[in-house]
Amino acid sequence: MTQIKRIGLLTSGGDAPGMNAAIRAVVRSAIYYELEVIGIRRGFEGMINGDYFRMDRKSVSNIIQRGGTILKSGRSEQFATEEGRKKAYEQLKENDIDAIITIGGNGTFIAADIFAKEYNFPVIGLPGTIDNDLIGTDFTIGYDTAINTAIDAIDKIRDTAESHARLFIVEVMGRDCGLIALRAGVGAGAEAVIIPDTSSNLDALYHRLEFGRKDKSSRIVLVAEGEQPNAAFEIGRMVKEKFPNYDTRVSVLGHIQRGGKPTCMDRVLASRLGVAAVERLLAGKFGEMVGLVHGELAYTPLESAVKHHITINPNFLKIVEILSL
Ligand code: F6P
Repeated sequence: MTQIKRIGLLTSGGDAPGMNAAIRAVVRSAIYYELEVIGIRRGFEGMINGDYFRMDRKSVSNIIQRGGTILKSGRSEQFATEEGRKKAYEQLKENDIDAIITIGGNGTFIAADIFAKEYNFPVIGLPGTIDNDLIGTDFTIGYDTAINTAIDAIDKIRDTAESHARLFIVEVMGRDCGLIALRAGVGAGAEAVIIPDTSSNLDALYHRLEFGRKDKSSRIVLVAEGEQPNAAFEIGRMVKEKFPNYDTRVSVLGHIQRGGKPTCMDRVLASRLGVAAVERLLAGKFGEMVGLVHGELAYTPLESAVKHHITINPNFLKIVEILSL
């Protein structure tokens, strides 16, 4: 087995607050263990194009608190092809890179897993996505910040909704999964949460609007964006049609959920996982995502981290219903 001396580090897919804290943790712990780190810009695209630079202790100074990713990110179509992955492998070899640590979500790990198996190349994944939709970690880096950003925005919408006695349909991110909607819904005291995978909750909403309390001065319905574009506008249109007496507005929070200073939870998570990723490589373990389950480090094969559909805890929907009486 090759002794690991030089690690390539990249961020890929949608950025997430806390990615910089994870980059810092990987770089600093690699230096601590006397390894070299090569930063790869713009995800797998940069890996193919040789967009590499040497990282040192100072290149990660003053970034733990910054949103986004200093390595830049993206989704690479080239890397989805055999030819693209071959070019990436050749670049890594040319630059004497023995292993890579990639920070990202579902798409990132699917691509990284194919590459790792194709070239028997050591890869470790760190879960970085606001969606929290990976198996093998209770929380992904960026999720805590995103839900806090969401509830901050929803609190503001509540102020104006109260003043005008309005019903707001608020769309939050989460194309494949409604975990932002679910937690932000509980945290912001929403009247209802609509998640694409649980179609019955639209009927529950209609039922409540028809038979529920009429003396509420505002209502917030949280909608996870789902795969269909304009989910919130579509629901808003149907609600307006069925309940013309409600003064209904739609608000889409969008990419503000991906930016901003990471919360302390995300910084600590990213720091712990970043150190663990380097230690895992040194222990000769690859092809895994490093996560945290019940507060302890957990290692999940990349293919299993992405394989399953995340199940929504129905208790959360029930809590929304009970608490919005
Ligand atoms: O995966 C993170 C995420 O923010 C999803 O919640 C969202 O559906 C998607 O990325 C949006 O991607 P893009 O920024 O490419 O439009």
